[in-house]
Amino acid sequence: MEQYVIKGGNPLVGEVEIAGAKNAALPIISAAIMTDETVTLENLPDVNDVNVLLDSIRGIGAYVERIDRHTVKINGSTIHGCAVEYEYIKKIRASYYLLGALLGKYNNASVPLPGGCNIGSRPIDQHLKGFRAIGANVKIDHGTIVATCDHMTGAHIFMDIVSVGATINIMMAASRAVGRTIIENAAKEPHVVDVANFLNSMGANIRGAGTDVIRINGVSGFHGCTYAIVPDMIEAGTFMMAAAATKGDIIVKNVIPKHMEAVSAKLLEIGCEVEEFDDSIRVVAAKRLQRTHVKTQPYPGFPTDMQPQMSVVLALAQGTSIVTESIFENRFKYVDELSRMGANIKVESNTAIIDGIEGFTGAQITSPDLRAGAALVIAALQADGYSVIDDIIYILRGYEDFDGKLRSLGAEIEKVSTESEIQKFKMKNGCM
Ligand code: EPZ
Repeated sequence: MEQYVIKGGNPLVGEVEIAGAKNAALPIISAAIMTDETVTLENLPDVNDVNVLLDSIRGIGAYVERIDRHTVKINGSTIHGCAVEYEYIKKIRASYYLLGALLGKYNNASVPLPGGCNIGSRPIDQHLKGFRAIGANVKIDHGTIVATCDHMTGAHIFMDIVSVGATINIMMAASRAVGRTIIENAAKEPHVVDVANFLNSMGANIRGAGTDVIRINGVSGFHGCTYAIVPDMIEAGTFMMAAAATKGDIIVKNVIPKHMEAVSAKLLEIGCEVEEFDDSIRVVAAKRLQRTHVKTQPYPGFPTDMQPQMSVVLALAQGTSIVTESIFENRFKYVDELSRMGANIKVESNTAIIDGIEGFTGAQITSPDLRAGAALVIAALQADGYSVIDDIIYILRGYEDFDGKLRSLGAEIEKVSTESEIQKFKMKNGCM
């Protein structure tokens, strides 16, 4: 079992290059199999979720060739079946995007119910409602979603909840329906826009992505293209929070500053300096930060995927902060771990009341999910002493070379898998 061992206390200083967005890459890989021509994807993040999804499309016969660490060629002409194996699906929730992709291309998809981070009940009723609206028969048979249709017809769909996954999934399938589909109350996240741009590059006709009404005119087929994935706003935000928590000075490069506005605004509000450039942002935290209130919302609101990292920063700020999680009900599981590092946080229902402390103390902690895991790493980087973080498998799902990038900013962190490696790290870093 891999762990991170960290000696805290160094302010993080320097420049860090942000990878392509995992949450855009996953639907785009799925959509890439919707043409029989070759698609070349660039700026793909080298993270576990992406690699599992590439394996799962190989599993149904797609040709996948890795050109370099961040570039992959995909050809869907060799697909021999529409049933995706549970082995892949149990590992990544985003495999549900293969439903929309296979249904759109072959009018037939069979995908086991998804796994993924345990951050709440995570139903997929809105995805299925959308597929049904455009003419699919959808049933759940022994834990597998089976969607079939003779032909799909455009429809007017009003989403009951703003859902990233459902918006993207319906957009993919409806791109191949006959006639026009209108999705109202659509999600507006940058990765929704990126998927729409990608589908349009393959020949789709999608307008309005990035607003809450998306109009899709179905087309009869897609062609190959070359497409570069948008930068990862959550990875960028995580490094911005690492600067804030460690009283550091970090320039995050290869970002779209507009995507970071909610995060930048909160950091400014609590006393960080935030400087925006064309495709980079500098965050400097020269003094103790101040309390604030944060409520997670769909984009352009404050992202739920940044809530744990923000809470770690607020746990160090002067005064009492209130953080309300309004997207997923189970996203405060890191609080018990953070308390063992000295944080003073009380959770009531979907609200965390955080009384700021001066600093954390290193501890042995466990990563409960992807973003919470990254947040605990930030806490350990600030902490006095050393920490060992278990279950980093979650973190590896979504952050490329997290420890390497942190080391380049001056962090003392190693990925280890044995007790003797931990002891070696401690000797080397003077923690004995
Ligand atoms: C995506 O999950 C991301 N995952 C999540 O990223 C992210 O936290 C989330 O969007 C919100 O931004 C991927 O892109 C792979 P939703 P998704 O559908 O699509 C409810 C990370 O750390 N809902 O927008 O599953 C749902 O329960 C992760 O990278 C329904 O009720 O999220 C939630 O309360 C984890 N019915 C809300 O909507 C549905 O059919 C928003 O979920 C669908 C969703």
